[in-house]
Amino acid sequence: MTIQHVGIIGAGTMGNGIAQACAVAGLPVTMVDISDAAVQKGVATIAGSLDRLIKKDKLTAADKEAALARIATSTDYAALGKADIVIEAATENPDLKIRILKQLEGVAKEGAIVASNTSSISITKLAAVLAKPERFIGMHFFNPVPLMALVEIIRGLQTSDETHARVEALARQLGKSPITVKNAPGFVVNRILVPMINEAFFVLAENLATPEEIDEGMKLGCNHPIGPLALADMIGLDVCLSVMNVYYEEFADSKYRPCPLLKEMVAAGYLGRKTGRGVYTY
Ligand SMILES: NC(=O)c1ccc[n+]([C@@H]2O[C@H](COP(=O)([O-])OP(=O)(O)OC[C@H]3O[C@@H](n4cnc5c(N)ncnc54)[C@H](O)[C@@H]3O)[C@@H](O)[C@H]2O)c1
Repeated sequence: MTIQHVGIIGAGTMGNGIAQACAVAGLPVTMVDISDAAVQKGVATIAGSLDRLIKKDKLTAADKEAALARIATSTDYAALGKADIVIEAATENPDLKIRILKQLEGVAKEGAIVASNTSSISITKLAAVLAKPERFIGMHFFNPVPLMALVEIIRGLQTSDETHARVEALARQLGKSPITVKNAPGFVVNRILVPMINEAFFVLAENLATPEEIDEGMKLGCNHPIGPLALADMIGLDVCLSVMNVYYEEFADSKYRPCPLLKEMVAAGYLGRKTGRGVYTY
């Protein structure tokens, strides 16, 4: 049973990126958000992103029109009733996600898969609120979705083999390269990435090198496309700190202690690019 129609909850950064990836791959999509304004903003972002791909000769104007024509939008969850899979990409808040999943159960088609794009909430815990937890799975896309090749597929303790196989096939249909991981705080990629960024703040706090030298070192010595401190500014220092706090609490292990300098900078409001100042000034 291949997936013929994808539902998406949330038209923000990730929701509209996932909608674009599906529509470009030829799949009809229904994207739902709480207001017309949010949905329209999502569609406008997709149109702008497709225009950039046309400029780079990766897409034709006809491809753009065909992709946009595959995207239906709504503010009513009932519109998700035709989807074979619904991917939840709403705001990162556990109580909100649980409310959304319960609301979705009332309208989803019989046998539909439900996936969450959460970065930090336990897939096993979210699955436990559903009547069919075996049909729930994590589908963690990376930002910007149209450009990033990875999808981390997270199996909760309850996820069935069939659910996993269908979601893995969908990721490949979108042109992505999936990896499958077990549920654990931060899953795999962020579990390694964010402590590395935190360590870069310790190195900075110890005055071992300047921010530029730390970033240059990791770019040239490890072949990373961007240094850890510049990346922290892109992600948001507040986001990095809250992820470290989750690891620190969930693993109850002092190796995940957030760097005091990171905490100080967040307290000062130096959150990175979004506030014009983080490690660097923008
Ligand atoms: N931004 C990233 O780099 C990134 C990367 C991977 C995963 N994620 C995860 O993706 C999810 C979405 O993040 P984002 O960055 O797109 O956030 P965002 O703030 O850009 O978008 C969230 C959207 O959800 C909508 N929303 C809120 N409540 C809703 C409801 N009840 N029903 C429908 N829509 C609702 C909001 O109106 C908003 O448009 C989060 O779980 C986040 O952890 C984010």
